[in-house]
Amino acid sequence: MKAVVFHEFGPPEVLTYQDWPDPGPPGPEEIVVRVGAVSVGRLLDLGTRAGTNRYFRGRPPHVLGSDHAGVVVEVGRDVHHLRPGDRVAVFGHVSCGRCRSCEDGHDEICPSSELIGVHRPGADAELARVPAANATVVPEGISLVAAAALALAGPVAWTQLRMAGLRAGDWVLVNGAASGLGSMTAVVARHLGARVIGTSRKERKRSALLELGLEAALDATAPGFEREVLELTGGEGVRIVVENLGSAEIWPHLVAVLAPGGTVISSGAFLGGQLSLDLRSLYQRSQRVVGVRTATRHGVASFWREVAPHVRPVIDRTFPLADAVAAHRYLESGDNLGRVLLIPCQEVG
Ligand SMILES: NC(=O)c1ccc[n+]([C@@H]2O[C@H](COP(=O)([O-])OP(=O)(O)OC[C@H]3O[C@@H](n4cnc5c(N)ncnc54)[C@H](OP(=O)(O)O)[C@@H]3O)[C@@H](O)[C@H]2O)c1
Ligand SMILES: [Zn+2]
Repeated sequence: MKAVVFHEFGPPEVLTYQDWPDPGPPGPEEIVVRVGAVSVGRLLDLGTRAGTNRYFRGRPPHVLGSDHAGVVVEVGRDVHHLRPGDRVAVFGHVSCGRCRSCEDGHDEICPSSELIGVHRPGADAELARVPAANATVVPEGISLVAAAALALAGPVAWTQLRMAGLRAGDWVLVNGAASGLGSMTAVVARHLGARVIGTSRKERKRSALLELGLEAALDATAPGFEREVLELTGGEGVRIVVENLGSAEIWPHLVAVLAPGGTVISSGAFLGGQLSLDLRSLYQRSQRVVGVRTATRHGVASFWREVAPHVRPVIDRTFPLADAVAAHRYLESGDNLGRVLLIPCQEVG
């Protein structure tokens, strides 16, 4: 098959489109997927390729590609809920299913968890062999490109908002709302009846965010940001802030607009910021800071059942698998609004 492989860490140009061994037959609980589309993510793809993803413990050569969608071509002996020909979305976080965390429904913190495309061979390839438990049948009417864009960000966004206790009518501020994950959180929050404020440092992206139905799109680093949010929310501030970036510079401005009783959700920190937290203010205002590592299996299933048929992911653009270098360069430029994806097999899309 064809795959994109990097043989050393470095800039996008280390990615090579080449012949690569097929993944082999599925194990008893695995499936083989012909990949229609695969997301390009900032930490898992750009970070791993550049050698800055601390979770990557392997060594090149390596095939990236975590959340993806495609058509099942082969199923293992013990797989009964999927058949060849099924269109599936594949969630990248693999948990053991047997440890205490998994049994408690907290498989997102399974100590032996692995990520497809990081600890296992990925889906930047024509074929991927993955655990059947990670695949969900894609409902009619959702394309494989949309399914790949939803596969990780959808369940994570849904989990973030549920963990924050979102109720219809709440004000939600999504920091980095133009990102692949942030745009999904904004879309899901809107679907659930929230009033959403998004942030981006770029004027062009802020205008585009308004077209998604956001109440406002602001630059959290600009003077007047806090005043504008307080004005919008009638002086109360927002009940939920979703922050996936880890910017120490922006954090104080987000906390300043959090209402009493409000919650900050954090699901990523690629900027790697370290913060100081005003504990007095935190307890006096009954506020919470909640880490959401990723979605649980239960969260993935409920997202596809309850939310996916009603939302559309924000897709910036797709690239053929052979143009993975251009796709990485584009995402690295920071110009994207929403998800960037690779298309390994055009014909299954
Ligand atoms: N926990 C999970 O399961 C999970 C899943 C997916 C993603 N994530 C995390 O979510 C984050 C976004 O990932 P993605 O793939 O969605 O990203 P992406 O599409 O590449 O978007 C990058 C975002 O970072 C912002 N940004 C870049 N440099 C910045 C800086 N110096 N200061 C402030 N903002 C900056 C950009 O904002 P502008 O609009 O201002 O340019 C944009 O919103 C990452 O930290 C990632 O690890 C977590
Ligand atoms: Zn486990």
